[in-house]
Amino acid sequence: VDDVVVVSNRGPVSFRLDDDGRLVRAGSGGGLAATIRPLLLGSGTHWVAAAMSEADRRAAAEGLMVDDGIRIESVTCDPDDYRMAYDVVSNATLWFIHHHLFDLPRRPRLDRHWHRAWDAYAAVNRSFADVVGAAAPPGAVVLVQDYHLALTGRMLADTRPDLRTVHFSHTPFADPSMLRVLPGAAAGELLEGLAGFGACGFHTARWEAAFRACLDDPVLRRGGRTPATFHAPLGPDPEAVAEQARSPECAAARRLLDDQVGDCQAIVRVDRIELSKNIVRGLWALDQLFEDRPEWRQRVVLVNLAYPSREGLADYLAYRSEIEHTAERINERWGTADWSPVLLSLEDDRARSVAALGRYDVLLVNPVRDGLNLVAKEGPIANTVDGQLVLSREAGAYDELSPDALGINPFDVSETAAALHRALAMGADERAARAASLRRRVLSRTAADWLDDQRAAARALDLARG
Ligand code: G6P
Repeated sequence: VDDVVVVSNRGPVSFRLDDDGRLVRAGSGGGLAATIRPLLLGSGTHWVAAAMSEADRRAAAEGLMVDDGIRIESVTCDPDDYRMAYDVVSNATLWFIHHHLFDLPRRPRLDRHWHRAWDAYAAVNRSFADVVGAAAPPGAVVLVQDYHLALTGRMLADTRPDLRTVHFSHTPFADPSMLRVLPGAAAGELLEGLAGFGACGFHTARWEAAFRACLDDPVLRRGGRTPATFHAPLGPDPEAVAEQARSPECAAARRLLDDQVGDCQAIVRVDRIELSKNIVRGLWALDQLFEDRPEWRQRVVLVNLAYPSREGLADYLAYRSEIEHTAERINERWGTADWSPVLLSLEDDRARSVAALGRYDVLLVNPVRDGLNLVAKEGPIANTVDGQLVLSREAGAYDELSPDALGINPFDVSETAAALHRALAMGADERAARAASLRRRVLSRTAADWLDDQRAAARALDLARG
């Protein structure tokens, strides 16, 4: 077997400080790290990841960054550099570019402050490349995950040409016209950084094609090496989902939920509090459903679970209050003494999320643009009541799941309301047939298959590359 080094910004283990300033191990919030971790436990794989917080940095210094049979190599950067790289460049720029989230007449403002942050992003990438360079055995396969680390490809090609490097994007990839928003030099460095990898992978052919179009765009880049590309969608880890679903915490959460939902049908959604997830339009779709279809009033609840994310960014805090206010308005408009149409929870409670996935009659996944969307695949595994999936055509998962999902344009609130109606009104036989087919489809590809595809892409590399 090859030596494998996994590299990602968020690692499998993180820490927080309790009220007395003591280090306590926290769960890993990110879906990506949480999905890869079970595959690597006990394997002896190196996993290079950032010490993201003060608590992580202390834990790394005290040798506490350990996991069962995973060799964690923590990357500790200057805290200001790290914050600028993570907040300003990775999350407030590259994430927005790849998801087409900018309100272009106003944002982004690529000023002196931004250019300093870009230098910090390069410095953080350099620190990662140094740690990988020191940890990777000769000829190792290096699997770098996501947009935080785009520049490491070029860096590793220069310092460790023996390594077989793969970059995998969990986001969409920007269309060329959107990548052109970046300062020309930064866009060029970004593409050169990625082109330095042996191969670049994506969840769907659509994001792979966008990347290739950027490489070929004459304004963004003039010539240069084109890396191998591939697409390989991530699948859920069915064992991990089943195990969570069996846990006592999950059973307790399910009882509570059954109580709250009562005789109503449940529309469920589970997301990070994240602009691309389109949570507010989901609420407006519910509002329109009650308006267009009075028969659903007092017979449907939306279980809207959204957990905090990237709270260092003002946009995310504002989005959180927009969600709260919209949910309140809808509850005030339609609610009665004994029925609230929206059950909103803004806490990170995985047991409750898995319980809700078990219980949905309709799962609403309506992102404006999404690399894949793992919830759309975890839901059908956890669900026990023949629930239906209403799925955005802009989610990478749509390409695989479309035959068994109700597709929507995520911007079209009316179409979303109509799809919710169709799913709620569906007869029992059709529900059962569609749910069974969806489950089969989801189970046909697991997280392990996805990891194997990345290893295969690495093995296929021509070592004599330039
Ligand atoms: C997305 C990204 C991951 C990231 C996760 C959570 O899924 O593709 O790379 O880890 O969001 O975001 P966070 O910023 O909390 O790591």
